[in-house]
Amino acid sequence: MLISDYDQVTALWGNTESMSLRGADSEENITLYLKKNPGLSFVVEKQGLLVGAVLAGTDGRRGYLQHLAVNAASRGEGLGKQLVNAVIDGLAKQGIAKTHLFVHADNKAAQTFYESMGWFARDEVRMFSFNSSSELNV
Ligand SMILES: CC(C)(COP(=O)(O)OP(=O)(O)OC[C@H]1O[C@@H](n2cnc3c(N)ncnc32)[C@H](O)[C@@H]1OP(=O)(O)O)[C@@H](O)C(=O)NCCC(=O)NCCS
Repeated sequence: MLISDYDQVTALWGNTESMSLRGADSEENITLYLKKNPGLSFVVEKQGLLVGAVLAGTDGRRGYLQHLAVNAASRGEGLGKQLVNAVIDGLAKQGIAKTHLFVHADNKAAQTFYESMGWFARDEVRMFSFNSSSELNV
């Protein structure tokens, strides 16, 4: 993924069910994210049209996969799997073997998709967040 993909990527994310764009997804933030995590985020194009994207990075210890989306008309063609595998390969090249992702508890389709690729749910873990801003949509 290049920052020049930003408009098409955010259009895809914005049109994807179970995905909401936040302030954290601003062009400025994604620019920094891609700079900090080169070679880990990917897009997939069909006939010049962007139909899939994934954002991924590492803190140097674990990998984090976020915002995986394939547009509705292109699902079931193996593109989601290719995007996830590209992330795993990129992280492995940097010596990162374990990767985490967050999926909404209601999003059973995505959970089945990840399980089909060997990911496992961490029922013993709960996600906690802290918001230091007065804004909710950060
Ligand atoms: C989840 C998503 C990225 C999958 O993309 P995709 O391109 O359709 O997935 P693939 O075609 O690569 O499927 C890979 C495997 O997962 C399985 N799979 C994919 N979607 C599935 C579903 N809804 N239910 C059950 N299995 C599913 C496929 O059968 C396939 O298995 P196979 O390799 O044995 O054939 C896509 O459905 C999507 O964008 N969903 C909305 C966004 C979302 O929920 N993202 C995850 C947020 S954490």
